[in-house]
Order: sequence, then C-alpha cells, then structure tokens
Amino acid sequence: MSTRYILLLSLTILLLFSPALAKSQNDAASDDDEDLSFLEEADPDTKSKAASHHQFGEKDGDPDDDDFSDDFDDENYHDFDDSEYKEPEIDDKDVVVLKERNFSDVIENNKFVMVEFYAPWCGHCQALAPEYAAAATELKSANESVVLAKVDATEENELAHEYDVQGFPTIYFFVDGQHKAYNGGRTKDAIVTWIKKKIGPGIYNITTLDEAERVLTSETKVVLGYLNSLVGSESEVLADASRLEDDVNFYQTTNPDVAKIFHLDSEVNRPALVMVKKEAEKISYFDGKFDKSTIADFVFSNKLPLVTIFTRENAPSVFESPIKNQLLLFAVSNDSEKLLPVFEEAAKSFKGKLIFVYVQMDNEDVGKPVSEYFGITGEAPKVLAYTGNDDAKKHILDGELTLDKIKTFGEDFLEGKVKPFFKSDPIPETVSSCIWLFLS
Ligand SMILES: *[C@@H]1O[C@H](CO)[C@@H](O)[C@H](O)[C@H]1NC(C)=O
Ligand SMILES: *[C@@H]1O[C@H](CO)[C@@H](O)[C@H](O)[C@H]1NC(C)=O
Ligand SMILES: *[C@@H]1O[C@H](CO)[C@@H](O)[C@H](O)[C@H]1NC(C)=O
Ligand SMILES: *[C@@H]1O[C@H](CO)[C@@H](O)[C@H](O)[C@H]1NC(C)=O
Repeated sequence: MSTRYILLLSLTILLLFSPALAKSQNDAASDDDEDLSFLEEADPDTKSKAASHHQFGEKDGDPDDDDFSDDFDDENYHDFDDSEYKEPEIDDKDVVVLKERNFSDVIENNKFVMVEFYAPWCGHCQALAPEYAAAATELKSANESVVLAKVDATEENELAHEYDVQGFPTIYFFVDGQHKAYNGGRTKDAIVTWIKKKIGPGIYNITTLDEAERVLTSETKVVLGYLNSLVGSESEVLADASRLEDDVNFYQTTNPDVAKIFHLDSEVNRPALVMVKKEAEKISYFDGKFDKSTIADFVFSNKLPLVTIFTRENAPSVFESPIKNQLLLFAVSNDSEKLLPVFEEAAKSFKGKLIFVYVQMDNEDVGKPVSEYFGITGEAPKVLAYTGNDDAKKHILDGELTLDKIKTFGEDFLEGKVKPFFKSDPIPETVSSCIWLFLS
C-alpha cells in the first residue's frame, strides 16, 4: 500500500473519528489543525517503506504532500505551483482512455470493464494512478480478459452526469454492460485480487509443495480446501463461497502433503477447510456445513486478527469493515502486556460481531492523537465501545478491566444496553474521495 494512500486514508479516518470536525470543518479547524498536522508528514518508518516502493519514491516532496484539504476545498488546487509540480512518471499504457464517443463501444464489446472516473487535481486519484496502471499491466500480462479504463470527468461532463459521479475517484465495474461501484482497496494487489475473483474461476489449485510454500509466503491470509477432487460439487461450493468474499484468495488441493503444510491433518475427513493468517491466532479450522454461505461466513468472521493493533496501515481495514461495532482498548504499552491477552481472550467470543482494536496511548505518532480524538485522557487503561463512523456513538467501560467485565460490556453493547458516555453527535460525512461540484 502506498504511503500516500495511507496518509490520506488515515486523515480521512481521523476526520471521521471526530464528529465535531466533520460536522463543522470551520469550527474545528482552529482546534484540530495542530492535532492533525502529525499526519501530514510521513514518519521516517513509512517514508522508508515508500522509498522501496518504486512508484512513490519519486513523489517525495511533491507539493500537495499531503494536502488533505484539497479533499474538501477544491480551491486549493489553484495554489499548486505548476512549475514545481511534476506529474510522477506513470507507465499507464495498459489503461484505456475513454471519451464520450467511444465509451459505450468499449463497454459493449468487452464483458468485463473497470472504469475510473477521475479528476486530474484530486489527490486520491493521483495516489491511485500508479496502482491502477500497475494492476492493468499485471492483468494484461496474465491474459485476463478485462479492460481497465479511465475517464477524465472534468472533461467528460455528460458521462460523469450519466453515471452519477459525485466524488473522485469513482470506480465502476461493468459486467455485460451492467455496472456496480467498486469499493475495494486502492492498491494494485487489492484491485487485481478483486478483479480476478469477479472474472476468474474463483479458486486456484495447489498440487505441489512448492506452490503451497509460495502461496503461504506471498499471501497474508488464505483459505485452503482439502477436497476429494479438484472438480465437482465440493470444488464448486468452494468457488461459490470465494466469490462472496473479496479480500481472501481461496485454494484447493487433494494432496495430503499440501494439506499438512497448511496445518491440516492429512487424516482429516474431506472436505476440510482451513484459513491461515500471518497474524496472531493464525489457524482457523472450519467445522461447519460445507456450503457456500457457511464457508463465506466463516471466512468473514475469521479474516481479521483477534485484536487489531491500531496503526496507519490497518486503520482502513478496521474502519471500512462491514462489521461496524468496535471495542477499543486504550492502554499505555506498559499496561498492555497484561491487558492485551485478556482483551484477545474476550475477542474470541465476538468474532464476526465486534472488531477489537488496541490503541497504544503512549505512541506519539498515532496512538496518542487517536486517544485524544476519542476524548480518552490520563494513563489509566480504558475500553471504549464505538458504533462505527456511521452513527459514532461511544460508550466507556471504566474501572478494572477483567475478562468477565469486558465480555459483559461487549454483550451489553451489542444488545444496546449500555448508555452512551459521550453525547452522540450527528452523522459525520464520509470523505474518502474528492468532492465533486457540478456547476450546472
Ligand atoms: C477513445 O477516444 C480517445 C480520443 O480520441 C482516444 O485517445 C482513446 O484511445 C479511445 N479509446 C479507445 C478504447 O478507442
Ligand atoms: C499470454 O498470451 C500470450 C500470447 O498468446 C502468450 O505468449 C503468453 O505466454 C500468455 N501469458 C500467460 C501468462 O498465459
Ligand atoms: C484445477 O484442476 C482441475 C483438474 O485438473 C481443472 O479442471 C481445473 O481447471 C483447475 N483449476 C484451475 C483454476 O486451474
Ligand atoms: C511499568 O510498570 C512497572 C510495574 O507496574 C513499573 O515499575 C514501571 O515503572 C513502569 N514503567 C514505566 C515506564 O512506566
């Protein structure tokens, strides 16, 4: 994931965290500018990662780095000093440019088309551009029959109107001319995984140990079905389940040695299914009915780690999850050694219902500002229940944090039995794209 994207998203999320800020950007600007500024510079850590990320190395020092206000205030792009700003070199030869007069031809003549409506001045679009281009190239070299296209909405006003484009980037995926919004990740890998799921068989074979090792090293979370046959009903069920799940790749094997590498007993009854993640609580065994929705539910409940450590990188996976309700543990690192295992234990009872997040309060870079946004002060550990960015209600569990108390609190929260600690604020606007204003 690009640094730029992380920064933009993190800002978005912090903005969403703070209903006051979202409610009235003007009011909040004076108070919160200072708090937000920490995210305007990449920390040395993410910078170095960015440097190894070739498309982004050359973007350092770019003048809108990180001009998040252009998300709200398109006046700002006028401030860019064009003489200083150099468009980063992006090899987007595999991205098809569409105009009003050839748009429908391309949609009609290709079964699968992804279309990005963008505005050249939009920071989110600039961040996406190299990832989108790389995805197009990768899909093309794999001979996938899909077209990745882009439309400059500032020029193609009628198309933008017709497709109800209100923010940038707006991305649609067309299947046989029918379009749906793409809300997946904005990295090359996320785009490629998502598209392959939509157009491909949905499931991949692993027949050799080499393939198994390669998959386990290259993917952060995978599902393996250990089946009686690579074709037929079991395999079809698995492929159907895979199509319901956008983030995790599904594999199948009949080879007992491959199964073993994925921590499945080779003697286990087939079909068997396991999910392997690189994070804590790595292995999850499926023991439900082997049908597509039960499998999809299992993957959905288990794909997140028990407790997500709040960082810039994983903020999006937390706050864009379909699971809205969250339990956040705020603790200084000294306390977390004792508390995190308890919190993790509690998390086991709420898989698929609540997201458990740990915020390290004494982490200056991210934890501290996030704590402040939630109004958590002092050093004492606290658990906060949060209804997610949509209605942004918060409830606090004070006092001693024992396993029982956390579990009861979580259950009460889900049943709507806990009272909001903070007054609930109006629904904040989601601002994950640049705003589009038609001058009609
Ligand atoms: C659509 O038209 C534009 C402008 O003439 C051209 O640059 C682009 O390559 C065309 N796209 C396709 C797929 O023909
Ligand atoms: C894609 O197609 C070309 C031409 O048919 C072929 O040479 C190439 O090996 C194919 N690549 C893959 C990954 O299948
Ligand atoms: C997996 O193997 C089966 C049996 O050989 C084959 O029919 C199927 O096409 C393969 N699937 C993929 C995605 O390669
Ligand atoms: C961490 O906790 C221990 C034991 O409670 C205490 O002695 C120590 O001073 C604490 N360290 C810091 C940095 O607060």
